[in-house]
Amino acid sequence: MAKVSIIGAGNVGATCANVIAHKELCNELVLLDIKEGIAEGKALDMWQQAPIDYYDTYSIGCTNDYSKTANSDVVVITSGVPRKPGMSRDDLISINADVVKSVTENVVKHSPNAIIIVVSNPLDVMTYHAYRVSGFPSHRVFGMAGILDTARYRAFIAEALKVSPKDIQAVLMGGHGDTMVPLPRYTTVSGIPLTELMPQDKIDAIVERTKFGGGELVKLMGTSAWYAPGAAAAQMVEAILRNQRRIFPCCVYLQGQYGLNNIYVGAPVILGKNGVEKIIELNLTESEKALLYTSANAVKEQCEVLDKLSASKG
Ligand code: NAI
Ligand code: 2OP
Repeated sequence: MAKVSIIGAGNVGATCANVIAHKELCNELVLLDIKEGIAEGKALDMWQQAPIDYYDTYSIGCTNDYSKTANSDVVVITSGVPRKPGMSRDDLISINADVVKSVTENVVKHSPNAIIIVVSNPLDVMTYHAYRVSGFPSHRVFGMAGILDTARYRAFIAEALKVSPKDIQAVLMGGHGDTMVPLPRYTTVSGIPLTELMPQDKIDAIVERTKFGGGELVKLMGTSAWYAPGAAAAQMVEAILRNQRRIFPCCVYLQGQYGLNNIYVGAPVILGKNGVEKIIELNLTESEKALLYTSANAVKEQCEVLDKLSASKG
């Protein structure tokens, strides 16, 4: 049976672990955090929830002890800080790049065959960073953002149409930021094109709300979201460990697909036991492509900041 480790036992990491336990996706679940006692406490709390919710996934926690994570099949990296008031985007890249680097080095050392799912922000840049630091093939290093962003888009559509969110299928591409590209042309409600059920101005408003969906929650709570992000990362773990071959938008390494090269950005993929089994290439219109390229350029600019920081740190 499988082993999963979650690095960072904060809001997103702990929620992801809790969903994994409830779905009984593995028999060994390890939570690791740098803060003394926090991962141990949350793992113990989760194990005490098991008799109530009827699952038998055993969870342990540890403080920065990577030997406990040894030989994990999947590692989810949620460690790092969310952006705080007064912090520039570059400051965030700098802080989280150091965290992601040291975490990835430890993951590689102790779980050389793992699949790595990155959640830490800025997502596309941190995924690219983990890929380069790990030396793993790109099908084993990818990021979670598209499932979350699509879920927000689907939830807003369900609310507007007063239908079940279960019946909304959608695709979204691009970076995890204000330039993300929800694709109404690939959005259906139980097979019915969204455009037949909703006027264009309403669709446009939902697309705009989706792009700023993360910020809407930060404004409300003073910190970023965790229920949907944690569940989204767990859904990726499930697709891998159960070899479901599900189609999800994930942050993946493009090498020629969509005319983009050497960049991590959101695209639809098939997720299965090997990680990214296939990157799906949609026939985008010229205007959809233009939006994707704008988003990819925004990600590239952040990657250049990372490269400069890495060079200055030696
Ligand atoms: P949080 O602050 O609740 O948890 C982060 C945890 O990481 C803390 O417990 C902290 O002690 C731990 N940590 C920091 N440095 C570490 C290290 N070197 N090793 C191990 N643990 C370390 O933050 P939250 O809300 O869980 O968010 C985590 C990250 O996920 C942030 O960067 C956030 O921006 C990002 N995020 C990404 C989303 C996405 O769609 N990709 C969605 C939501 C959050
Ligand atoms: C979110 O989208 C901030 O990435 C975080 O909720």
